[in-house]
Amino acid sequence: MSQPQLRPVRVGLLGIGTVGSGTFTVLKRNQEEIRRRAGRGIEVAMVADLNTELATKVVGDAAKVVSDARQVIANPDIDVVVELIGGYGIAKALVLEAIAAGKHVVTANKALLAVHGTEIFAAARAKGVIVAFEAAVAGGIPIIKSLREGLTANQIQWVAGIINGTTNFILSEMRDKGLDFDVVLKEAQRLGYAEADPTFDIEGVDAAHKATLLSAIAFGIPVQFDKAHVEGITKLSATDIKYAEQLGYRIKLLGIARRRDNGIELRTHPTLVPMRRLIANVEGAMNAVLVQGDAVGTTMYYGKGAGSEPTASAVVADLVDIARLLDAAPEARVPHLAFQPDSMSALAILPLDEVVTSFYLRLRVADKAGVLAKLTGILAEQNISIDAVIQREADEVSGEGNQTDLIILTHDTREGSMNQALAAMQALPTVLAPIVRLRKEELA
Ligand code: NDP
Ligand code: HSE
Repeated sequence: MSQPQLRPVRVGLLGIGTVGSGTFTVLKRNQEEIRRRAGRGIEVAMVADLNTELATKVVGDAAKVVSDARQVIANPDIDVVVELIGGYGIAKALVLEAIAAGKHVVTANKALLAVHGTEIFAAARAKGVIVAFEAAVAGGIPIIKSLREGLTANQIQWVAGIINGTTNFILSEMRDKGLDFDVVLKEAQRLGYAEADPTFDIEGVDAAHKATLLSAIAFGIPVQFDKAHVEGITKLSATDIKYAEQLGYRIKLLGIARRRDNGIELRTHPTLVPMRRLIANVEGAMNAVLVQGDAVGTTMYYGKGAGSEPTASAVVADLVDIARLLDAAPEARVPHLAFQPDSMSALAILPLDEVVTSFYLRLRVADKAGVLAKLTGILAEQNISIDAVIQREADEVSGEGNQTDLIILTHDTREGSMNQALAAMQALPTVLAPIVRLRKEELA
């Protein structure tokens, strides 16, 4: 007996820029394949964008185009609202209004969810609607689905990822082609990778938004962007990139969420990673996420983390999930943050001083007897164990022969202990410039 045909799911798109236009194109191009997977069609019935002329160019007469997003939300025929405007402003109001109107929501907006996720997920639960956000972390890589569903047997120990394509692109192009920071950033903007405000990319905020979402899903904690440590790549110098390479490390902007006995580390910063690790060789705008689970061990997810169709791939996957679940009871769905809302963990985000990691230090010092002994003595006082010490040839660095760069690699230690050691070392008259401190992760 043939199954009755279900009516198509009707989608309202808010914002048809880089990701919105990709979503429209992919849905249209692969509509038959998608219908066979979802069990029903998925069609864009309405599009709202401030630039209606451009929007009409993209969708033709396939969907009604309006400039006021609220018209989409008010349309009773729309089942799912896809928010692809971005930011915390109007996007937040529209998402909450769509939920209040009983619409399911798909969004790629990590900024919004990392900051206001608790409020948004609570509103969605109260209304019995889905808020899906696969595209919000690592673009086209299905990392949310992997963590929420594929790895559900595991106690997750840590997640570490290159989750900002723009900064990875900048670091790769600067290293390989010797291009200037500003030139590469402009190219990332042209290619549609960068955020509307690119300081979010280069100052590590975008990666920290994504790390915040990953921490919530990995450990069953609320989204707490305000407690994340955020550092970008703008202070990174070519000297440290070069020294790191000479020592067998590559510097990557990593988002890290790690479970410790006393809490959760949540941090984003440039990180030395051993060159032999796969993740150290992820280049350009590509993203990669490593997940360590107690049963599965280490798994790695790799792919395009930004761009029109790669991100659309994740948005459409969320639409297919919703199409399959449209008539299912809310209890049958995977919880927004992977854990049942009444079973969230009380583990707190640790202050930065409590984070445990290893370090790369670069010190410009006077090239004379006893300097190294003094420095290693200070590290020993803080119980910091040294992994390696390298001294550059004096004239290689300054050309003067009376000062030199010392590179010290440490084993794991508390960040608080390192801060104390750094303050004591910086106060020495033989330390001639601000000490550079970078974190290092073995990711073994
Ligand atoms: P774009 O700036 O390319 O697109 C946003 C669109 O929304 C623009 O066309 C803009 O119109 C429109 N818009 C702005 N305000 C309104 C409004 N009030 N009502 C209706 N439309 C409006 O952004 P992206 O497509 O790059 O990003 C969208 C979201 O996806 C963001 O949250 C971003 O962080 C996220 N994301 C982006 C990725 C990427 O690779 N680009 C990857 C993963 C996630 P106008 O231009 O006229 O202002
Ligand atoms: N600006 C982001 C990036 C887009 O460069 O990775 C994808 O979230």
